[in-house]
Amino acid sequence: MTFSPEVRERLERDAKQIIGRYPKPRSALLPLLHLVQSEEGHVSQDGIEFCAEQLGITPAQVTGVSTFYTQYKHEPVGEYHVGVCINTLCAVMGGDQIWNELTEHTGVGHDEATPDGKVSLERIECNAACDFAPVMMVNWEFFDNMTPEKAKRLVDDLRSGKEVLPSRGPNKLCTWKDASRVLAGFPDGRAHEGVQAGPESLRGLELAKQRGWEAPQSAVAGGSGGSSPQSDTADTGREAPEEPVQAREITDPPPNEPGEPIGGDVKPGSQEGRNQ
Ligand code: FES
Repeated sequence: MTFSPEVRERLERDAKQIIGRYPKPRSALLPLLHLVQSEEGHVSQDGIEFCAEQLGITPAQVTGVSTFYTQYKHEPVGEYHVGVCINTLCAVMGGDQIWNELTEHTGVGHDEATPDGKVSLERIECNAACDFAPVMMVNWEFFDNMTPEKAKRLVDDLRSGKEVLPSRGPNKLCTWKDASRVLAGFPDGRAHEGVQAGPESLRGLELAKQRGWEAPQSAVAGGSGGSSPQSDTADTGREAPEEPVQAREITDPPPNEPGEPIGGDVKPGSQEGRNQ
């Protein structure tokens, strides 16, 4: 174990706090892995042994979990870990092209870092942000509607120390280690900053409100917990909308640009507020 006595003492204190949140110590393994990752930037063998000691399980059990989830890195990554979504929708919208051009531009591949240690790249699967495809993430913050040019500029800015803002979420991009600490369960107080859901994500809700669409009562009442066989198939017998949704209605307003304010409700600390 090579953690210095001071670091180990601090990690033990944090680990105790995390473990205390769960009925069984081993349930705290995932946040504990983020905790050791926040210290070293990746999950080292020392980190694995620390988690095993704290939880009373074997290093093999910790390794089994930490190698299953791709958010845990076993080699150092960059200060800014950049993900490019190459899942189906993002791929056909340009994600594959972004990945190809970005790897050529930086000279690094999947889960590799640039020599200056500033940026690493990862091919990532669907980030549940398909309405902003193709998307990228930096330390798990979203950058929407990307292009190869924007992607290369983003990475260049990160490497040169220029401030970049995510399309949604916090007003400041934190480092990979800081993001890992938040995931370990130590909030940085930024969770409610910025735009949480962009207009694209809310468009279906808006259309439903405009047209008076409501969820079937059986679904509202609890779906599978309902009393009739129809409860499990809530849409059975539901009338189709008379007016089909027009393409114009789902593409207006145009997609937002990374770093630019996006429409929708302005919340305290949102991008709109900070760009005025
Ligand atoms: S496919 Fe990229 S966010 Fe869903």
